[in-house]
Amino acid sequence: MSEYLNNDQRKVTAKRLSEMKAEGIRISMLTAYDFTTAGLLDEAGVDSILIGDSAANVKAGFETTLPITLDQMIYHAASVARAVKRAFVVCDMPFGTYQVSREETLRNAIRIMKETGVDAVKLEGGSHLADTIRTLVQVGIPVVGHLGLTPQSIHAFGNYGVRARAEAEAAQLLRDVEVLTEAGCCAIVLEKIPAALTEKAVKLTPLPIIGIGAGAADGQVLVSDDMLGMNKGFSPKFLRRYADLHDVITKAVGHYVEDVRSGDFPSESECY
Ligand code: KIV
Repeated sequence: MSEYLNNDQRKVTAKRLSEMKAEGIRISMLTAYDFTTAGLLDEAGVDSILIGDSAANVKAGFETTLPITLDQMIYHAASVARAVKRAFVVCDMPFGTYQVSREETLRNAIRIMKETGVDAVKLEGGSHLADTIRTLVQVGIPVVGHLGLTPQSIHAFGNYGVRARAEAEAAQLLRDVEVLTEAGCCAIVLEKIPAALTEKAVKLTPLPIIGIGAGAADGQVLVSDDMLGMNKGFSPKFLRRYADLHDVITKAVGHYVEDVRSGDFPSESECY
């Protein structure tokens, strides 16, 4: 455990994330979608918990993140926020909830903040969102940006490959980092871009840059189901598995099935 973890159990805030970058303390972020998992992650000392719209993939089995609704995200986010004491909690605004108008975006973001208890919202996209971000920040809603591979745009991209390899897209991403910084974001997620580009982005902004498949940054984020090995079928290069819960769970359930079939469970001591 790091010295920071040992000594500092204060609630992590947007301000603290910036201080961590300034102090050279790397930020750990993981996704969670439910009360029990969020409590475990918080207890283990993760600095930030993201209720990602990846819930659409890993919890609901959709191919993309597009179908998840605002009500569904609010249900997940409220469950997570109820469990968390220390981590900075961020909720993705789902596709379609921040694109239509300023009023609708504000109404949706305010619903998330009022009904869930999270600390910030996250939006996918670059410079075109500057006014939207300013509007949210002005009413007191911390905003995390998300650039690079933004899964809500999968139908425009055509695949989940690495983004910003080409010079023009890389230059645009760096401009977007500057615009999001100026618009008032409190952190930026960079997904699946070359590590050398992330290095430039980290130097360009005082905001904490949290990477996923983007090389070394001020912090890292992974989908908890992936890093815990719940799903054997998903093995991108950037994913490090810290456990094999797929095997742990299938073995435990297989054992239970055997015990029920054989009559070994319940035993006398497990009966009233
Ligand atoms: O939805 C999500 O889980 C995310 C992370 C992959 C950054 O946006």
